[in-house]
Amino acid sequence: MTDRMSDSSVRRFYDDLARDYHLIFADWDASMARQAVALDTLVRQRLGAGPRRVLDCSCGIGTQAIGLARAGHRVVGGDLSAVAVARATAEATARGVELPVVAADMRQLPFPDAGFDVVVCADNSLPHLLCAQDVIAALRDMRRVLRDGGLLVLTVRPYDELLAALPPAPPPQIAETPEGRVVTLQLWHWHEDGEHYDLEHLQLLPAGDTWTVRTRRTTYWALTRARLTRFVAEAGFTEAEWRAPDSTGFYQPVLTALRASR
Ligand SMILES: C[S@@+](CC[C@H](N)C(=O)[O-])C[C@H]1O[C@@H](n2cnc3c(N)ncnc32)[C@H](O)[C@@H]1O
Repeated sequence: MTDRMSDSSVRRFYDDLARDYHLIFADWDASMARQAVALDTLVRQRLGAGPRRVLDCSCGIGTQAIGLARAGHRVVGGDLSAVAVARATAEATARGVELPVVAADMRQLPFPDAGFDVVVCADNSLPHLLCAQDVIAALRDMRRVLRDGGLLVLTVRPYDELLAALPPAPPPQIAETPEGRVVTLQLWHWHEDGEHYDLEHLQLLPAGDTWTVRTRRTTYWALTRARLTRFVAEAGFTEAEWRAPDSTGFYQPVLTALRASR
């Protein structure tokens, strides 16, 4: 698959999902609030009291960006999906939050050097990049837009554990809506290399006594913690630290690292 093909298929996946994205959470607002507490605590632990200039470079519909803005940070959102960032703007406005957004690829961020204290790339966004060259290009651009000593915050699935088991599917996610329960199912199709997989995303929406099923498909690279730590160092970060969910309250492992001086 060429980079261009994989970019447009990721963009299509999230453009199409943007309208329904909140339905992968039992309660999106509650999840936004919990995630903001966890990420804000990490930022304060590593940089001291804020507020900070934060770029969420894969903000989607705003799950982390809106919560961090509500916590007092000056947040800018970016994402490959123009439909997702448009929804992020609408959701932020509906909650009285200022959130400038831009549709942008994290490998080519449309921001000047050194303008942010923190770059966030959360909920397994980086593993949409499928080769070392692309992952390092993204990390280098995140480094470029951070000031000296600025903080990178990456969250990814626990791939060391997942690669040991190559599970066919994670547990279903269920959202209660006024129309009834929405069920989100994922099927994971592992490639022969044992480290990439296609994610088949099925959403079952209640339709009277039957279901409407929406299906979408995208590809991920299951990056181990050791590999991602190496990439982060190669891109010019230091003091990389992994934290497990039980120590952060965030539902995925979190990697933080500091931008080394030029
Ligand atoms: C699993 S979603 C997470 C979105 C958001 N952080 C959240 O938790 O709701 C992954 C996001 O990464 C974005 N993404 C994938 N590849 C990207 C790229 N090359 N540049 C910027 N965003 C990208 C997708 O469009 C999608 O919104």
